Amino acid sequence: MANYTLPLGSKMLSKQFTYGVATASFQIEGGVEHRLPCIWDTFCATEGKIADQSNGDVACDHFHKWSEDIDLIDSLGVDAYRLSLSWPRLIKEDGSLNEDGATFYINILDKLIAKGIKPFVTLYHWDLPQHIEDNGGWLNRDTAYKFAEYTDIVTKAFGDRVHSYATLNEPFCSSYLGYEVGIHAPGKVGKEYGRKSAHHLLLAHGLAMQVLKKNVPSAKNGIVLNFTPCYSATDDAADIAATQFADDYFNQWYIKPIFDKEYPAIINHLPKEHQPDIHDGDMEIIAQTVDFLGVNFYTRAIYKADEQEVFEQLEPPEPRTDIGWEIYPQAFTNLLTDLHSKYSLPPVYITENGAAMADQLENAQVNDLDRVDYYQAHLNAVNDAIEAGVNIQGYFAWSLMDNFEWAEGYLKRFGIVYVDYVSQTRTIKQSGLLYRDLINSRT
Ligand code: NOJ
Repeated sequence: MANYTLPLGSKMLSKQFTYGVATASFQIEGGVEHRLPCIWDTFCATEGKIADQSNGDVACDHFHKWSEDIDLIDSLGVDAYRLSLSWPRLIKEDGSLNEDGATFYINILDKLIAKGIKPFVTLYHWDLPQHIEDNGGWLNRDTAYKFAEYTDIVTKAFGDRVHSYATLNEPFCSSYLGYEVGIHAPGKVGKEYGRKSAHHLLLAHGLAMQVLKKNVPSAKNGIVLNFTPCYSATDDAADIAATQFADDYFNQWYIKPIFDKEYPAIINHLPKEHQPDIHDGDMEIIAQTVDFLGVNFYTRAIYKADEQEVFEQLEPPEPRTDIGWEIYPQAFTNLLTDLHSKYSLPPVYITENGAAMADQLENAQVNDLDRVDYYQAHLNAVNDAIEAGVNIQGYFAWSLMDNFEWAEGYLKRFGIVYVDYVSQTRTIKQSGLLYRDLINSRT
């Protein structure tokens, strides 16, 4: 395929539509000696947690290569760059600002602005300071208030440099993967932890939104949620009901409190000890109005009923990406139109979408046609949702470059830029070159 094509007249072919690339602090920065330890450092040091036994000590060495990385971002012609801040780099153990950490990000923000690239900043992309985890982490309500203090300090330090703040990235992953099934840091396991940590994360979001509205009212402030749409394996009523339960448990749980001020009704079917501790006024705090909703989409999941566990997820059908996720772009359009019909949404940004593929670097090129196909199909799925009336303002490719893919370590590559971790050279893949061409072709 010569390029990414969208229907003539598509809103996504206009300069009003924002295109960007996304990364996250722990996944690219390295520079570990310049910050406090976080839960992912500890998790990586725990035997058997990371597929290649790696860690984030060096990652893409963005801590040292940030300036050339911004040149690279600029060469792609994007309008925006979505990055996250490392809380343990910015805030000292006594709660005060780490000036060196602030300077690191201010330099990045200033260079982005000088190049006309809008900074979309995520305050929390999973790297909780370890000393806060030692106090209970997201199971401790106090962490939500600590997050609001951190938000207050950094927004004051950054002034008006940031175009858009997202409070949290994918609270589902922090709570469910981190505290319920334990495949992410801090690796706690227990149904009694998942919902409680989720509630404190959502409370943290609401408290931080209040700070953002006060400190940076002209920035576009919101949250980034991930969705894995749930499909029933059959038309059988029991499978459909089980799938509905899974959807409420994994997807609606994180969005409904924000837009409807309440958890899905399944909360009443959970055993008391699995339910979150909701204090008076919490739901009002969580349901602050947001300026935008960030949507991350990669794949769907198929469920059937299970007597013991309510639902069971089936093995994903082919075709799949290198990480085993089914490629099913229709679910992306359906997700966006469903969210639009269920909730009264603010403008939506696709804050992540992309694919892990088994890339080969040959003659300084990566001919990742499988990823090109993925982007072509998913960009068009977004376009279909826009045509159906969903107010989508932008799209960020995940990721700018290959990086530390959490429990998969460096084995799975999501970049539109290839990273050689030995030499730290970056090579724009075919998917990235075509992304640049699409962006440059806009009128
Ligand atoms: C979601 C996360 O936000 C990001 O950190 C991760 O690398 C991608 N999905 C791919 O799994």
